[in-house]
Amino acid sequence: SNHPLIAPSLLSADFARLSDEMSAVSDSDWLHVDVMDAHFVPNLTLGLPVVQSLLKATDIPIDCHLMIENPDHWAIGYAEAGAYNVTSHVEAAEDPVALAKNLRAAGAKAGLSVKPGTPLQPYLDVLKHYDTLLVMSVEPGFGGQSFITDVLSKVREARKLVETGHLNLVVEIDGGINADTIEQAAEAGVDCFVAGSAVYGAEDPNKAVEALRAQAGR
Ligand code: DX5
Ligand code: ZN
Repeated sequence: SNHPLIAPSLLSADFARLSDEMSAVSDSDWLHVDVMDAHFVPNLTLGLPVVQSLLKATDIPIDCHLMIENPDHWAIGYAEAGAYNVTSHVEAAEDPVALAKNLRAAGAKAGLSVKPGTPLQPYLDVLKHYDTLLVMSVEPGFGGQSFITDVLSKVREARKLVETGHLNLVVEIDGGINADTIEQAAEAGVDCFVAGSAVYGAEDPNKAVEALRAQAGR
């Protein structure tokens, strides 16, 4: 975890130019794609057909963040399409252990996300089956919100469980990550940093990726 991963979020890109917008962040480690269904969150973005096309148009590993109801049913399609990591919300999943097993069997990394108010403690056994923990640092649904500092205690808790060998996870953070907040997140133990507006709002998105990566280096 001393090699920080930067995952630009396409939510802040121009949806009419997604191929160019992916090329604009060619130096990123993962490409974060926010799937919203207007039920789990009060916003609607894109789904499997668009992700299938994105996968054909880039070599960057695609990190799907499913903010949807019934991920037990829908997540597998993203894994079968070739997404590198598929993350579902623990608040939405019926059987997160079975879900992780299915994703891994389909060749994807399995991710589990927690909203800012959701604690880790009840899910420690479940998390043993996962490759990625996505800690939300804003309420899911929209880009450009302010970082919720309180979630850093949850990041520290996760980092400690990884360091002590209780869990084997990439710790990822999502929401409000920018030049002002990334250092505290890195210090708390984040491995992978999602950034939407901070990358696509910059004049040169690739330069913003490099700058964030340098700041996150511990
Ligand atoms: C919000 C999404 C985020 C969003 C982050 O629900 O999960 O990935 O794009 O945007 P910023 O970095 O602008 O907070
Ligand atoms: Zn996201």
